[in-house]
Formats: sequence, C-alpha cells, structure tokens
Amino acid sequence: MRLATGETGADATGSPPPAGAAMPSDLSVVFLNPSGQLGGAERSLLDIMSGLLLRYPEWRLSLIVTAPGPLVHHARALGVETVVLSLPMQISRLGDAGLAARGLVGRYLQLLLAFPAAAAYAVRLRRALTRLGADLIHTNGFKMHVLGSWVRPRATPLVWHIHDFVKRRQVMSRLLRLHSRRCTIVMANSRSVQKDVVAALGGSVPARLVYNAVDLDRFAPVGPKLDLDELAGVEPPPEGTVRVGLVATLGWWKGHETFLRALALLPRTLPVRGYVVGGALYETRGSQHTVEGLKGAAKRFGVTQRVAFTGFVEDAAAAIRSLDVLVHASTEPEAFGLVIIEGMSAARAVIASNSGGAAELVTEGVNGLLHMPGNEFELAKRIERLVLDADLRARLGAAGRQTVVARFSPARLVDDIVPVYAEAWRRAGVR
Ligand code: GLC
Repeated sequence: MRLATGETGADATGSPPPAGAAMPSDLSVVFLNPSGQLGGAERSLLDIMSGLLLRYPEWRLSLIVTAPGPLVHHARALGVETVVLSLPMQISRLGDAGLAARGLVGRYLQLLLAFPAAAAYAVRLRRALTRLGADLIHTNGFKMHVLGSWVRPRATPLVWHIHDFVKRRQVMSRLLRLHSRRCTIVMANSRSVQKDVVAALGGSVPARLVYNAVDLDRFAPVGPKLDLDELAGVEPPPEGTVRVGLVATLGWWKGHETFLRALALLPRTLPVRGYVVGGALYETRGSQHTVEGLKGAAKRFGVTQRVAFTGFVEDAAAAIRSLDVLVHASTEPEAFGLVIIEGMSAARAVIASNSGGAAELVTEGVNGLLHMPGNEFELAKRIERLVLDADLRARLGAAGRQTVVARFSPARLVDDIVPVYAEAWRRAGVR
C-alpha cells in the first residue's frame, strides 16, 4: 500500500494515531450519501471512488443513497454497487438552512417529529450495511453522519467526510457533537473546515485535511463546448463578446444576486454577457433560489439583456470551457469550492470569493482574482478588468492549470485518503 503524507498529515487534535492492524487488502468500503443528486459533495465522492478503484481494483466499494438521481448512474458506471434506500420525505426535507425561519425551538420540534421515521430508516440501513459487508463506512453528508453513527457496527470504522462548515448550523452542530463519540475520524475538505469541525466537536475526534481533486482530463483546457446561448434560449451575442459565468447550484449562498448586481454595474458598452449555469438541486426546503426567481431579480436590476440562464447542465466541463471567465461568488464562506479548481483546470480565468476554503485555492493575481464575498462593486471591477484584458485572462488561466496539476490531481486525492482510512482502521480497533 502506498502511504503518502501529502497535505493531509496535520492532526488538528494533536493526538498521535495508535498502532494496530493493517487494513485488509480487499477492503470493503460502504459510502453513505444523503441524496441521489450531483452536488459538489457527490462529485467529490465520485472522484474518490474512481480514484480508489483505479489504484486498488481488489477493494469492494458500494454506495447507499437516499434517492434516485444522476449520482446512481455515475456510481454504477464506475462499477460501484449502488443501493437506493429511499429516505422518507419528512427527513429529506429537514435542514438547518431550510428550517431557519421556524426558529430554534421549531427546528428541534421538527427533529423530534422526524425521529420515528429516522429510527425505522436506520433499521433498513443497518440491514443493507450487513448485506454489503462493510469493513469501513464513509459518510458523505450531515444526515448520513448521524444515521451512520446509529447503525455503525462496533468494530467498523466510521469516517465522516465533512464538506461544509458545521458551526454555523446550530442544530446539526449539536447533533454531530452528540454523535461524535461514534465517529472514528473526520475528513475535512479544506483547512478552514478542518478548524471549524474541530471547534464544533470540541476536539474529540481526530480531523484530517483532504483537499478535493479534479479530473484533469475531463476538465482539460481544450475539449467539447456547449452552446450556452441556445441552452438559455437567447440569440448569440455579437462577435468578441466575453462570456462570464457563475456555475453553481442555486443555493441561496452561492451569490447569484451579487453576480447579477455586479453585471448591472458594468459599463453599458463593455462587450460582456453573463451566464447563470445551474439548477435547483436539493430537497431541503427554502434553501435555494429558483431560475424564475433569479430571472425576476435580473429584471429588477435591469440586466435582462446581459444575462442568460441555462438551467442545470450535466456536462460541467463543457459548460466551463464555453466561458472566458468563471465567477465564484458565494456570500458565505465556501467550504472548498470545487467549481474553482474545475475552472482553473480548464485554464479559465477565475474570480473567487475571498473566504473559507475558496481562499485556500486562489492566490490573488497569480492564478486567479479574489473579491470580498457579497461585494458586487469589487466583483464588477474584477469582471471589467478581465473582460478588457485578454492577456491577463490567459496568464491566470495557465497558472490555474499549473496549480491544479500540482495540488489537486486525483492521484494526490488517493494518496491523502488511504492513510486516513488506515488510521481509522487502527483507531476502530482500539476504541
Ligand atoms: C460542498 C461544499 C463545497 C465543496 C463541495 C465538495 O458542496 O459546499 O464548497 O466544494 O462540498 O467538497
């Protein structure tokens, strides 16, 4: 087995890993994912599964998801046995973001009401895990971190792969803290998330940093493109127009409004067209915009003529290649920001929000530009600068590609994950 240290090594709790038995060579990993859709966490999961299978063809990987969706097809295409175990609506709709309006007491009440359904689901989940014969359980989203804790057999390591900040989710952070004794090890997708999770869990679980990766061939600078205008049902813009796009789910924190406001601030004569690429993905109530709602906002800001909405696009790589500038505008600290490294990998000039994990990926003026989250004036200035300067776009794009080759390759992802699994395996033996 190749054990590399990579960027992972840091133990945020400071405790040394205990010595113990090595992992079996035909390790069976069961992944639990709380959705069948393809958000960032799921794309990261697919990268992990394909990377592991490539390096360890003798490992047995299976996946349990809570709803049908594109994740299922993609996982099966990799040869991963995928089971759809439908989560009752009552639970799939629960979420801190969606329930914020109900207040804290309301949220706890919702949780309490959902408990019987969750307990019944756990019975089915445990049965599926037994059938799949898990040596290690890797959970990939908050609900599954909790459910995984309930169903984890005593000696089976449980790895929580944390893709989002925990502390700002009041209810979930308490739930995770409550269940943290059942978790063997935490994997965080950025240094910022690692710090956050250590603070949220009170340092009770070791937390390792594993940055995401990007498929360097799929997100190559040259390759198939899409006709974004046709997808959006608009006429192509005049020759020489610079295409600037926000590629994201419609989560309310992804900064769609900031992007639209920034477009409104640009000089009328600037040859630019904005693109909003993405659709509503998640079932959690009230956590996202709708395309219709965003079109309404575009109208209010007077940018209807300057922006096109493509809706959800399956081939993100082709969508990104169709742009000249990729904007990441999250208004809340972004845990990682997969789309940022995808844009860099495709050698597109990237403008990212300067906070959270996103700020760990971009060095201002070297491999991208940064703007203050939610600040449309700063964003507009950077868009204008890149629209006017093709050389700068090319320079940032080329440097971005170099960054991802050096820091975010799928091989590095596997190098980083395997020691975490090995450590989880050893720790589960001594718990
Ligand atoms: C979540 C995070 C995002 C990250 C992705 C993959 O979707 O919000 O920042 O890129 O997971 O780790």
